[in-house]
Amino acid sequence: MSRATALAHPNIALVKYWGKRDRALNLPAVPSLSVTLDGFSTTTTVSYAEGGPDRLVLGGVERGPAETAKVSRVLDLVWSGGARPAATVWSENNFPTAAGLASSSSAFAALALAAAAAAGQTIDRQRLSVIARQGSGSAARSLWGGFVEWRLGERPDGLDSHGLPLAPAGHWDLRLVVALVSDQKKAVGSTDGMTRTQESCPLYPGWVQSAPQDVEEAKAALQRRDLGALGRVMERSTNKMHATMIATEPSVRYWRPASVAALEVVEGLRAEGTAAYSTLDAGPNVKVLCGAADAERVAGALRAGVPGLLDVITLRIGGDARLLPG
Ligand code: PMV
Repeated sequence: MSRATALAHPNIALVKYWGKRDRALNLPAVPSLSVTLDGFSTTTTVSYAEGGPDRLVLGGVERGPAETAKVSRVLDLVWSGGARPAATVWSENNFPTAAGLASSSSAFAALALAAAAAAGQTIDRQRLSVIARQGSGSAARSLWGGFVEWRLGERPDGLDSHGLPLAPAGHWDLRLVVALVSDQKKAVGSTDGMTRTQESCPLYPGWVQSAPQDVEEAKAALQRRDLGALGRVMERSTNKMHATMIATEPSVRYWRPASVAALEVVEGLRAEGTAAYSTLDAGPNVKVLCGAADAERVAGALRAGVPGLLDVITLRIGGDARLLPG
């Protein structure tokens, strides 16, 4: 086969990844744990042909050399650095790109899967996760559905730093309610933000040192389906990560006034007895984790309590990245 199409869902970290211990291999400074989302997805087609440079068409728009180079790097890894044909890659997201909704996680997971299938190569998911990681760290977690850990790993070559499925989507019927504050591309990309944090934030060592314990707590909460415990560790990890971002020079602050308003709505819901917990990534959008029975109440409270939201979207937990026929 010289052409293949794959679909992957983005994931949202419950315990966050922020910081790299090896920039070239994109190895994380901290372990992390995520949930894969249903409803949002990236669909990517890879087609190989002789001659010409690699081409990337994202959302119907042909991209320039910088964006295409990141894709070429992943294709090189799929071909283990050997000679390979040029590729054209078409990719579509059914949700806003680069707005803190983890579009790069689904993008590079779908790319790795499609690129390997189009090349006729059988590469196991763990290895695909190692490849996807080198396009975007969070993509290491999007090869699988449900709840996924991204292992720190120890090896200098990074082969043991990959996603590890902890529980499938059916393990726990949770919802993630997205308060869409902005659909614009973020001003500071995550790699630049991480570099700035590592170089100038005095809080960074504390962040790195405390992260493994957060992952252990989240795993235990996941196993016993304890939403209170999982929500608390998610908010703690989120707040620590954003504290390190804010305390860099110059400061990286992704929160907007509507983000803070959404956080306050969630606190209000909790005060009234609804188990709802919030998180933000490298962008202003707030995602609220709650039980299936509370999702409508949470969405309604966000709509009523946060002026200017673009949308409120309720998502279920998604499945594995997969090849599509045709
Ligand atoms: O790997 P990237 O560049 O998508 O960085 C992801 C960073 C956060 O979304 C902020 C946290 C995370 O673990 O996904």
